[in-house]
Amino acid sequence: MPKPLNVGMIGYGFMGRAHSNAYHQVSHFFDLDHRPVLKAVCARSQDKAKPFADKWGYESIETDWRKLVARKDIDLIDICTPNNTHAEIAIGAAKAGKMILCEKPLAMNGEEGQRMVEAVDKARVPNMVWYNYRRIPAVSLARQLIDEGRLGRIFHYRAKFLQDWTISPDLPQGGQALWRLDVAAAGSGVTGDLLAHCIDTALWLNGGIATLDAMTETFVKERKHNLTGKVEKVGIDDACAFLCRFANGSLGTFESTRYARGHKALYTFEINGEHASIFWDLHDLHRLQYFDHRDQGIVRGWRSVHVTDGDHPYMGHWWVPGLQIGYEHSFVHQVADFLQGVAAGKSAQPDFRDALRTQLVCDAILKSAREQHWTRVSQG
Ligand SMILES: NC(=O)c1ccc[n+]([C@@H]2O[C@H](COP(=O)([O-])OP(=O)(O)OC[C@H]3O[C@@H](n4cnc5c(N)ncnc54)[C@H](O)[C@@H]3O)[C@@H](O)[C@H]2O)c1
Repeated sequence: MPKPLNVGMIGYGFMGRAHSNAYHQVSHFFDLDHRPVLKAVCARSQDKAKPFADKWGYESIETDWRKLVARKDIDLIDICTPNNTHAEIAIGAAKAGKMILCEKPLAMNGEEGQRMVEAVDKARVPNMVWYNYRRIPAVSLARQLIDEGRLGRIFHYRAKFLQDWTISPDLPQGGQALWRLDVAAAGSGVTGDLLAHCIDTALWLNGGIATLDAMTETFVKERKHNLTGKVEKVGIDDACAFLCRFANGSLGTFESTRYARGHKALYTFEINGEHASIFWDLHDLHRLQYFDHRDQGIVRGWRSVHVTDGDHPYMGHWWVPGLQIGYEHSFVHQVADFLQGVAAGKSAQPDFRDALRTQLVCDAILKSAREQHWTRVSQG
């Protein structure tokens, strides 16, 4: 019988739901030594926590994360709150000896992230950051193809993450759901919110970034602040693009914006190697486009691989070949890998230390954009 592992979740928004769903599903599809038990959910208001707990099956509620972290019956703290709360909660949870799953970006900046890494190292607690896109089967397959050497030497890495939901100048900043527009809560705009995903995937697939040159823009300079009621300066980057050189000698271009009318969550990446190229698109997430120059000329061309077969990453745990899975399953895979790591006594990736590397790239992007020159990325 799997051992119960008691989860204390902090935050009940978008990610609170995505993670709760993952904890529910994981034991149905993966054979694991541990079974997540939804022990408690924490929100600042009881009126919000109670209906969420009832809907998702949490046994109890807390309204102060410190009380949750102090509870003896909680094994794992899951941080699903805005970015400016991650460090304080994670460091508190580590001191209390809890396992920690923390939402991305790890922290507001590299300095905070470093303190979080030190806290989990000192406490020796299993930890992981929810860069979930790695665990979409087509993205995991991309990694497998690269590891097998099919692409050969990599020349180019190209990524975009495009949205269009903040174009209206009437949209306020701050508070519930709109904390992403408030630099005090988010730390940055699209850099930490969207590009951080692209960077995590890129570091995983193509290794470290050595130097970069970035530009950012804030198209709407002032917005009403929901918490103060006043019109205030906007401190986030609405759009960001950067060029970079990877340590392996390949060149990267990255772009993210919330001002690309018509695009909702268009995360794409393309990698061009000496022998082959791959392309992936979040809007078509179960497919991996693959071109191999070594194919016989008369049939050479881009293949669209439907990543749903039993021997594709993770797919043997789901339905029958040909039936696809979706966004939410990446979170299920992440919980499964984390629990396998716990059973094996090793951290599943990306752990805090790995996520710090992404944070340091984000820091370098913002510095480069501010100072308008090429910037070396700290390797931590
Ligand atoms: N992995 C991903 O793909 C992904 C997607 C979306 C968001 N995120 C990350 O997840 C985190 C949360 O984002 P979200 O979209 O779920 O936000 P959200 O606004 O939907 O939910 C945030 C939740 O945190 C709660 N909260 C805020 N401060 C709190 C406090 N001090 N104590 C307890 N609860 C508090 C809010 O009430 C709300 O329930 C962010 O760090 C974000 O960057 C990651």
